Parts: sequence; C-alpha cells; structure tokens
Amino acid sequence: MSLTPNTNIAKKILTAVSGLLIFGFLTGHFLGNLLLFVGAEPFNIYAHQLTSNPLIYLAELILVIIFGSHIVTGIQVTLASRGARKKGYEVRNERTPKSWIVKSMPYTGTIIFLFIIFHIISFKFGPGFDESARINEGMLYLTMEGEPIRDLYKLVVVRFTNPAYSIFYVIAMISMGIHIAHAFQSAIRTLGVTNKTYYQLAQKASIALAVVFTVGFSSFPLYFMVSQPELAVIEEVETVESEVIEMNEVPASIEELDVK
Ligand code: HEM
Repeated sequence: MSLTPNTNIAKKILTAVSGLLIFGFLTGHFLGNLLLFVGAEPFNIYAHQLTSNPLIYLAELILVIIFGSHIVTGIQVTLASRGARKKGYEVRNERTPKSWIVKSMPYTGTIIFLFIIFHIISFKFGPGFDESARINEGMLYLTMEGEPIRDLYKLVVVRFTNPAYSIFYVIAMISMGIHIAHAFQSAIRTLGVTNKTYYQLAQKASIALAVVFTVGFSSFPLYFMVSQPELAVIEEVETVESEVIEMNEVPASIEELDVK
C-alpha cells in the first residue's frame, strides 16, 4: 500500500491524536473502576449514574469514532511503511534498529481490539443489559430508590473469580502495556516534539504509563481471582440498603448463577 507523503503524515497525526484521546478514556475508566475496591454500593451507583445519563450515547459514538479512526489509520500507516521498506524508500538510522516492541505494534493492537470486543460483549451487553431479561438474572439486579439497577459489581466478581477469565485479562493488559510503551513516545514525536530533552522525557513517561496501566488494570482481575470473595459478595449485596429483586430463587453460591 502506498500513500502520498502528506496523506501519510496526516494519517500518522490522526493515529497519534486518537491514541492520546484513548489514553484519556482509559484514565477515566481506570479511576471509575477503582471504586471496585471501595465496595459494591459505590461502584454500582457510579456505574448506574454513568450508564443512565442520556449523554452516554453521544460519549459512546465519540468513543467508536476515536477507536475506529485509531485502528484504521494505524493499519494504513503500518502497511504504507512496510511498502516503503520493501521498495527500499525507508529512511532509517542503522544505529537504531526497530525493537521487538515496535515490530509487535500490529500484533499487540490486534490483541487489544479482540479484547475490547470480548470485554464489551461480556460487561456492557452482558447479563442484566436487557431489562426484560432480568427474570432469569434476578441476582444481577438491585433496586435503588425503587428503580431496578444493574448489579455490575457482582458481574465483575463473577467474571474475575474465574481464573481462566482473569488470566486472559492479565495477558490482554500486558499486550496493552507493550503497545503503550511505544505508542505514547511515538505520538509525542509525531506531534512535533523533537527536542532531545523533551523526547527523552516522553520515552520515560511512555514506560511509566505502560507499567501503571498494565499493573493498574490487571489489579482488578488479580484481586478478585486471589481473594475469591464469593460469600462476602452475596452478603455484602444483601446488606446494601437496596433490596435484591426476588425474581428467582436466590442461588446459594456464585457457581449456581447461570452467567453466560
Ligand atoms: C481490567 C479491568 C476492567 C474492568 C473491571 C472494566 C469494567 C467495565 C465495565 C463494568 C463496563 C460496563 C459499563 C457499562 O455497562 O457501560 C466496561 C465497559 C467498557 N470498557 Fe472496561 N473494564 C476494564 C478494562 C478495560 C480496558 C483495558 C479497556 C480498553 C482497552 C476497556 C474498555 C471498555 C469500553 C470501550 C467499554 C464500553 C463503554 C461504553 O460503551 O459505555 N475496559 N468496562
């Protein structure tokens, strides 16, 4: 694939800007998820307020555009640079060979893409998404001031107490960390920061962000996988002031929940 130099630069800038916006989303998502460590009630109230806000549809549309343009332009820039290398046009400094991190960008990007699809199906469109389905998922609903709200906290615990699920998450988060380790400093350079001192700072920030995001996001599946808070969750949820909607017989343990 070949792009004119100007189109290629425009696409690189778009990849960089969309990548930095994804950082913004990830920071917000991580801070919100920290409420999982505070307790079921604060997390469920936060998630409910977020998902019941009518502006969520606009925010989701913006997210789709940001992620979509990052993926499309990222693929186009990668293919164009491969094409240039094959034709011998690529200008490279022999002393700085491409590291394995740079070479793995399309692969880590693909893993993250597949992870996001799985993650959205699993949580956003997971059990309890459709209110009419709650007859079979009574335990995944609570009432707050008379209104049924999703018990997303319990869904997170049900998912992450499953070791296979949690290990998959940690692998995906490591891939995300490897992607970020190159992505952040690359975006800063694309956006015009060529000053040696600032660029070196951006390189360090890139590694630091990669570690913080990998460890931070992995802490949720690891925490629930190791602590296995089965009974504690059910007790905690039952003692939350809001009452569990008794649509079905209450299962004795999380294993009995038919969570698809
Ligand atoms: C590992 C810890 C994570 C936890 C516990 C978590 C939890 C959740 C939950 C509960 C939802 C559903 C909220 C709703 O119903 O709208 C959600 C949605 C979402 N998550 Fe995560 N998440 C994690 C990591 C990530 C990562 C690393 C990414 C991106 C790379 C991500 C991207 C998304 C997206 C795009 C949505 C849909 C947002 C929307 O449409 O409103 N999540 N997450």
